[in-house]
Amino acid sequence: MMLLGDVFPNFEADSTFGRMKLHEFLGDSWGVLFSHPRDFTPVCTTELGRAAQLSLEFSKRNVKLIALSVNGLEEHHDWSKDIMAYNNAEPGSEFPFPIIVDDRRELVEELGMLDPEEKDQSGMPLSARCVFVIGPDKKLKLSILYPATTGRNFDEILRVIDSLQLTAHNRVATPVDWRPGDSVMVPPGIPEQEALTLFPAGVYTKDLPSGKKYLRYTPQPNTHQQ
Ligand code: BEZ
Repeated sequence: MMLLGDVFPNFEADSTFGRMKLHEFLGDSWGVLFSHPRDFTPVCTTELGRAAQLSLEFSKRNVKLIALSVNGLEEHHDWSKDIMAYNNAEPGSEFPFPIIVDDRRELVEELGMLDPEEKDQSGMPLSARCVFVIGPDKKLKLSILYPATTGRNFDEILRVIDSLQLTAHNRVATPVDWRPGDSVMVPPGIPEQEALTLFPAGVYTKDLPSGKKYLRYTPQPNTHQQ
C-alpha cells in the first residue's frame, strides 16, 4: 500500500502515448495518476470527459494527467474517440493525456487499485476509482479512493492541487472548502511571535470559548516562502 510521502514506483508501461516510465514521463511536473474500472462504461466516460475538458487547467498548474484501467491499447484508443464525441469535441481531436494499458492487471495489483467488490463478466476484479497526486519529487502527496458506482469531481482534484502547491512552498494550511484567494490558516506548530514575522500581511485570531488561540488566519501568500 502506498503511504503519503512514499516515493511512487517508477513503473514502465504501455499507454496511448507509447511506452512510458513514470518518473521520466513526469519530469519536473506534478502528476495525477487515476484509475477507472473499465473502458466503454458510462460513469468512466463522464469522468474522463471532464478530465479532458480540464486538461488545460491541469497543464497551467504544471500537472500531467495519466489515466489507467485494466483494458488493452486498442480499446483505450477506440474509447478515447467516444469520450471526445461525448465532449462534443471537433471530430479528429486528440485525447489530451495518456491512458495506461493494464490488461494483465499487474499495475493495479502493485499499486493497490483493485476493487474486490467490482468484477467483470469472468469474475475478475476491476480497478477502483483511485487518485494519486505525485509531486515533482516523485513522492505521493495525496490519495483518494472511490468505488466504481461513484464518479469523482475533477474540480475538487484541481482545488486540492492548488492547496498542495501552495502548502508545498508556504508554511500554511488551507481550511475547509478553501478556494485560491481565500485566507489560509497558520498551522499549530508555529509560535505566535514567529507567525508575525512569517506573515507580514497579518495574523487574525478568532476568540474561542476555550481561550486557546489556535484559529489563526492570514491572507493567502502570493510569493513562495522558502
Ligand atoms: C461506470 O463507469 O459506469 C461503471 C463501471 C463499473 C461499475 C459501475 C459503473
